[in-house]
Amino acid sequence: MAQASGFDPDDIPAIREHTGTAFSEILDKRISRRTMLQGAALLGLHVSLQDFAHASAASARPVFDELAHGLDEALHVAQGYSYQALLRWGDPLFADAPAFDPFDQSPESQARQFGYNNDFLAWMPLPRGTDSSVSGLLVVNHEFVSSSMMHPGSPDAFDLTRSQVDTEMQAHGLSVVEVRKQGHAWRVHRESGYNRRITPLTVMRLSGPALRDRRVRTAFSPQGLQSLGTFGNCAGCRTPWGTVLTAEENVQSYFMGHARKTDERKNYKRFGLRGTKSARSAWGRFHEHWDLDRHPQAGLHAGWIVEIDPYDPAFMPVKRTALGRCKHEGCGIVINHDGRVVVYMGDDQRFEYIYRFVSRDQYRPGDRAHNLSLLDRGELSVAEFTESGTVIWNPMVWGTGMHVPANGFASPADVVLDMRRAADLAGATPMDRPEEIKVSPVTGHVFAVLTNNTRRTMHGVDRANPRASNRHGHILELIAPHNDHSAREYRWETFMLAGNPGNEADGARYHAGVTGNGWFSNPDNCSFDRAGNLWIATDGFNDEGIADGIWVSVTQGPDRALPRHFLRAPRGAEICSPCFTPDYKTMFCSVQHPGERSSFDRPSTRWPDFDERLPPRPAVIAVTHDQGREIGS
Ligand code: FEO
Ligand code: CA
Ligand code: CA
Ligand code: CA
Repeated sequence: MAQASGFDPDDIPAIREHTGTAFSEILDKRISRRTMLQGAALLGLHVSLQDFAHASAASARPVFDELAHGLDEALHVAQGYSYQALLRWGDPLFADAPAFDPFDQSPESQARQFGYNNDFLAWMPLPRGTDSSVSGLLVVNHEFVSSSMMHPGSPDAFDLTRSQVDTEMQAHGLSVVEVRKQGHAWRVHRESGYNRRITPLTVMRLSGPALRDRRVRTAFSPQGLQSLGTFGNCAGCRTPWGTVLTAEENVQSYFMGHARKTDERKNYKRFGLRGTKSARSAWGRFHEHWDLDRHPQAGLHAGWIVEIDPYDPAFMPVKRTALGRCKHEGCGIVINHDGRVVVYMGDDQRFEYIYRFVSRDQYRPGDRAHNLSLLDRGELSVAEFTESGTVIWNPMVWGTGMHVPANGFASPADVVLDMRRAADLAGATPMDRPEEIKVSPVTGHVFAVLTNNTRRTMHGVDRANPRASNRHGHILELIAPHNDHSAREYRWETFMLAGNPGNEADGARYHAGVTGNGWFSNPDNCSFDRAGNLWIATDGFNDEGIADGIWVSVTQGPDRALPRHFLRAPRGAEICSPCFTPDYKTMFCSVQHPGERSSFDRPSTRWPDFDERLPPRPAVIAVTHDQGREIGS
């Protein structure tokens, strides 16, 4: 997210604690291993590129007339396509839900309406187990709110009434909504029994290593069994067993009190969770769970990957602590050749890391009860990118290596609760803000999006983060040997260095054929289509005076790394989570924070309604081809 007044909570510098091992020792360890690996490469022990290609399908290059860069109040799609604003902030989700009235919102109305700042989207076909493209559930994250864009009078978050604070809480979390396509048009099925709002006040269950740990015992759950709600939900993914994983990202924005006075001060410092000093909301004023002075452990309940079964409206969401705690941007999931489940995760902050989880047990098709336990046991590791083009997944397993009581890890719970510190000690490579990580369905290669890092210095560059003051971001391609996603070492390559190829100082790198409209800045979310094309959504191009949007690129063959501009956001908005129906005839995506850096009273756009009585509204749109063709075909 980017936010008003130039403050970007995605972007708080990390403060590292080096207990146990001197940092120089870690560096020594890293360098010696790197030298060793280079030696191995010289001896020809590296695996050749051809070994990795398991699918030979040549990418079909998307065909459409590219959009022009620009910036205005409207949303634009490539010629021949149209969009429909399907779900807007405040839209009623239930038959008895009140109509949206921006001058009379209440916690009760908002609890029955679509939330604010939609981000991640998942298409879950109905009936379950089919590949329907006309009837299904949309699962939607509502990442954060902007008080000054939401309420008449454009108030500051800390000047809100109790009712306004509670309204904002109800605008967070997720929506599960049944939608249907009739002809070319999509509509919301308000009578559906699946429709559900999940909010910061929804009771959740903890599972995995942190379950019952003394550090997660709170007034809300004295035995450490449950958690209160989810918030800061950024990206996520759909699991092969038909559930959704949602990632808790900027949770440091929600707690008040004095983090430094708690027993968790080291953890909170490393996390950038500073209590009132990092708060962007006043929840803690009215809800004591969000006041660290009263509930010092509550901050440990946030920053997890949460699993939700949208097909079961009574399902209690589960915080899967085996996947570790950080500012989770999102996750990408793949079933490995041996049946184990692998989850890739980015921690979106400057100089943070890329993580991997490999399940202990195997996925069993059709055995939902079993599959719902897969994310509770497995191995966490963190990526080290070497100068010789290798990724090493350094394990963070309690009782081994650095993750022992002498270094402050008294139990497996400490490793997941203090995952950033566990990764510091494992020799992870600090990255340029890891956002989405997704696996190509065609090649099995892993694409990791790094959005930017203007604080990287000349002395701090490395091959995987090659630019100082990286304003534009880049995308890396990680290649597992024989597509073994549990392997200890992969190869990696640079896929793109974003920025303006016409400006030498940017140091951008794309296919030589990129046009003046094909380049972009600040890649954030991405998705693959079935041909293996990468659809890239940006967040921050706006700051360069060019609208954010969606670009699509082939990932292999002669047109590799040739992005083309498909969709352009209205002023102030970023685009999140391109999401296709199985027939690829509809692309849903999120339009988040339209009008950002303006105000409710004086908005810089009134997208999507363009009604003088309505503020701009974050919305999910459905994009279709006017002749009903596949998107991009
Ligand atoms: Fe929620 Fe890293 O963007
Ligand atoms: Ca971002
Ligand atoms: Ca964002
Ligand atoms: Ca994002």
